[in-house]
Amino acid sequence: MRIDIITVLPRLLESPFNDSILKRAQDKGLVTVKVHDLREYAHNKHRSTDDYAFGGGAGMVMTIEPIHLCIQKLKEERTYDEVIYMSPDGEMLTQSISNQISLQQNLILLCGHYKGVDERVREHLITREISIGDYVLSGGELAAAVLADSVIRLLPGVLSDETSALTDSFQDGLVAPPVYTRPAEYNGWKVPDVLLSGHSGKIEEWKHDQALERTRKRRPGLLKL
Ligand code: ADE
Repeated sequence: MRIDIITVLPRLLESPFNDSILKRAQDKGLVTVKVHDLREYAHNKHRSTDDYAFGGGAGMVMTIEPIHLCIQKLKEERTYDEVIYMSPDGEMLTQSISNQISLQQNLILLCGHYKGVDERVREHLITREISIGDYVLSGGELAAAVLADSVIRLLPGVLSDETSALTDSFQDGLVAPPVYTRPAEYNGWKVPDVLLSGHSGKIEEWKHDQALERTRKRRPGLLKL
């Protein structure tokens, strides 16, 4: 998989991709992540990528030309499955969307800023719009990192234990059951007996019951879908 991220703040995206699982996935050649500085495509004196909104109103709007030039250049090099605009009014990211996107080859993620992008970018250049939640971030960069992380960890070979992404919360429509590790008793607080019983059938049943109970209590909406 290849992910190209277009941003006016490339430095914001340095650390999420240079550590831990996301770094290892790139080192192993399972994913290529390239961050593109939108300013390099702004051919005006101050390399500005935004302007005042037509019709007035507070806040600047990201201009169409640098975004178009950057996307065009990338598209000359390869074909993209999706050009995704990170936006608070996009479709809400879910595990099922991440699963679906993880099957694709080449993605462009466009990070918005200020009051957003000129609407013609959304009409003509974007194929999908994704939000990571009903709150507004200062820009799309952190949202792009969230989306990329949730997708990259699903790629075969990224997680050392192949089954571990499959047992994540949400993968079976339930949140994950509680987990424990040593010591079996700490400060008088005990690990449930069943987990120490060595009886795998009973353990699996317990985990499933716990996941169901937790989902009912914490995220009942998931059970109604
Ligand atoms: N940009 C600003 N806020 C955002 C959000 N909640 N999701 C995606 N992109 C955003």
